[in-house]
Amino acid sequence: MSAAALEIHISPDVLDAAMIADVRTGLSASPKSMPPKYFYDAHGSDLFEQITRLPEYYPTRTEKAILAANADEIAAATSMATLIELGSGSSEKTRLLLEAGLRAGTLHTYVPQDVSVTALQQAVDELGVEYPGLEVAGIVSDFTDTTASIPQRPQRTVAFLGGTLGNLIPAQRAPFLAGIAAALRPGEHLLIGVGLVIDPAVLVPAYDDAAGVTAAFNRNVLSVLNHRFGADFDPSGFDHVAVWDAENEWIEMRLRARHAMTVAVNDLDLTVSFEAAEEMLTEISAKFRRSGITEELTAAGFDVQRIWSDADDRFAVVLAERR
Ligand code: SAH
Ligand code: AVI
Repeated sequence: MSAAALEIHISPDVLDAAMIADVRTGLSASPKSMPPKYFYDAHGSDLFEQITRLPEYYPTRTEKAILAANADEIAAATSMATLIELGSGSSEKTRLLLEAGLRAGTLHTYVPQDVSVTALQQAVDELGVEYPGLEVAGIVSDFTDTTASIPQRPQRTVAFLGGTLGNLIPAQRAPFLAGIAAALRPGEHLLIGVGLVIDPAVLVPAYDDAAGVTAAFNRNVLSVLNHRFGADFDPSGFDHVAVWDAENEWIEMRLRARHAMTVAVNDLDLTVSFEAAEEMLTEISAKFRRSGITEELTAAGFDVQRIWSDADDRFAVVLAERR
């Protein structure tokens, strides 16, 4: 019998109110911006899954290889009874950790957490069938709300994979990591995957692939605004831009207006003007150095125990223990 369930810890009203505030703020700012969590409606989550399979997008396969090589060691080091995964998406790579935890005989419960209801529902349904002995208890919430996203359970390991930490702006990162630490007890763990600073010649194509999937993912935020708020963005009127910011050590994704235009966001009584070539920031994807991520985790209340990486030093998986 399957023990898989989905709990919605965020009401549609709260989601709407937060999104309305974000959209009003972002479209009125200079430069304009939009938080990346709004990429992920059903179509956006599907486009992200396509990105993970692109030849240029090295992070997913690199992190997966690191997890495959070290999952048993991670399970032994954490004695995880509960694996909570923030921004879990399809939970594809996580299966390596679930199987290691089951092999070790410690793991009882998997708590995938995501803001994308469709991605989470699909993952929960599939995992319930694949792992009948495992309790799967999905949570829909915004992971920056660490209290709602990290439930009280025995011997928890929180996983935050894929490099999604890099999608938070620096001002969000410290309170977010401190919030995870505050939700955990001493001796519990955080397992975090981060992209490392590498040659921009490899990095930039990962965010600007030849097949145009990342461009479609980027433009999808405009379709989300059209569906949710009756806006009349023409996504084809925007070019996808991916640039490496060497000073901040992050990739910026932007949407650049091909010509001057006025957009109505009808449900919000908002009219927004774009000049020709005006750019809207849609995502940062920060890359890390071992020293930097170690400092951030230490400041948040963790002791870094292990850092695994691939032979080309493109991606790191960091295991940290709550002090
Ligand atoms: N962890 C998976 C998916 C990464 S894609 C992997 O490594 O492949 C990023 C995921 O985080 C998406 O599923 C998206 O819906 C989710 N996400 C983005 N911002 C979020 C937020 N603020 N709160 C909760 N989930 C979020
Ligand atoms: C989810 N996140 C870690 C991805 C990244 O690489 O920053 C999102 C993404 N944006 C463009 N491609 C993939």
